[in-house]
Amino acid sequence: MKVPYFDLKTQYASLRDDVLLAVDRVCQNASFILGDEVARFEQEFAAYCGSNYCVALNSGTSALHLALLAAGVQPDDEVITTANTFIATVEAICYAGARPVFVDIDPKTANIDPERIEDAITSRTKVILPVHLYGRPADLDPILEIAERRDLAVIEDACQAHGAIYKGQRVGSIGRAAAFSFYPGKNLGAYGEGGALTTNDEEIAQFARILRDHGQSKRYYHDFVGYNYRMDGFQGAVLNIKLKRLNEWTRKRQALAQLYYDLLSELPVELPQDKPESESVYHLFVAYVDDRDTLREELERRGVQTAIHYPRPVHLQKPYAALGYRSGSLPHTELACERCISLPLFPEMTAQQVRYVADTIAEVTEQFEYLTVANRTANSTR
Ligand SMILES: Cc1ncc(COP(=O)(O)O)c(C=O)c1O
Repeated sequence: MKVPYFDLKTQYASLRDDVLLAVDRVCQNASFILGDEVARFEQEFAAYCGSNYCVALNSGTSALHLALLAAGVQPDDEVITTANTFIATVEAICYAGARPVFVDIDPKTANIDPERIEDAITSRTKVILPVHLYGRPADLDPILEIAERRDLAVIEDACQAHGAIYKGQRVGSIGRAAAFSFYPGKNLGAYGEGGALTTNDEEIAQFARILRDHGQSKRYYHDFVGYNYRMDGFQGAVLNIKLKRLNEWTRKRQALAQLYYDLLSELPVELPQDKPESESVYHLFVAYVDDRDTLREELERRGVQTAIHYPRPVHLQKPYAALGYRSGSLPHTELACERCISLPLFPEMTAQQVRYVADTIAEVTEQFEYLTVANRTANSTR
């Protein structure tokens, strides 16, 4: 059996008629940049997230950048975040001229460890930027409590977490502002680049709207040095079509993820623990194993494609060397990057394919004598 890592072509086949009509509509209306389709998407996505406002942009990276600027981040401020993320989280901090400060992850969740945040706060800290990694909500309550007490803003990187729920609320509606990505492979993906900022704060939304469009509040009257961060009309139209299907796709991802959890529970792989009060949308299904590269090669040989998110943590990437972190600075993050493997998971995947992946992992880990967590612990205490 062949199991691809993901499959956007099958999804397109189910949307093709609507998408072609939408392309035609956008072209007929010559509504190529922003326009009605984008305005409708902004309303519907804000409602979906339970946020008052949504500002549609050309990427999640732009959304992070504008959220940081709107929160008042200035050059030489510090922003606390995780190094276990896609590089864009940290790039956006640098675009704002601020300094990223990394806090290690909680190894049980792979998300930022709230208990370590307080020690990283200095007089220059402005924002805490948790990432809902893989679609699994970061533990926001303790983060919000620290932020409130220390007068900091919380900005959510929800780029991987469309629709994920933390204690009854959708992510993206909880912090001062949030960033979403609609990169094609995301749970809600455009047919090109796309992103959005969500917020309950009217001033932030207004500021982001002006900044995305060259800093102009009125045509050719520029109040700020702005950016060209506008969403295309076509992406708005595609997102309107896909948003209607998002809950159905999320339920499929959740059911397949549950099946993985059941089938992998006795095998020598570790899975991140979801907090009972939160609901993951499983953008990625990531497991942790000791000899990740062997497992990956052997799965590939047996027809199962996998990926790595992410092979090298941000603090050990070349451009960030000047921040002064070294190998060993963030041990849990570094171990997660050494051991992580992303298994195939997409709404069109079948239960039979999940079973095949799990059976193949069982076969490989047995053949190569992988140790279960219990065995590893016993060995290391000997
Ligand atoms: C956690 C995270 N943050 C930010 C981004 C940036 O989004 P975009 O690629 O739309 O700029 C991504 C996208 O992959 C992401 O996964």
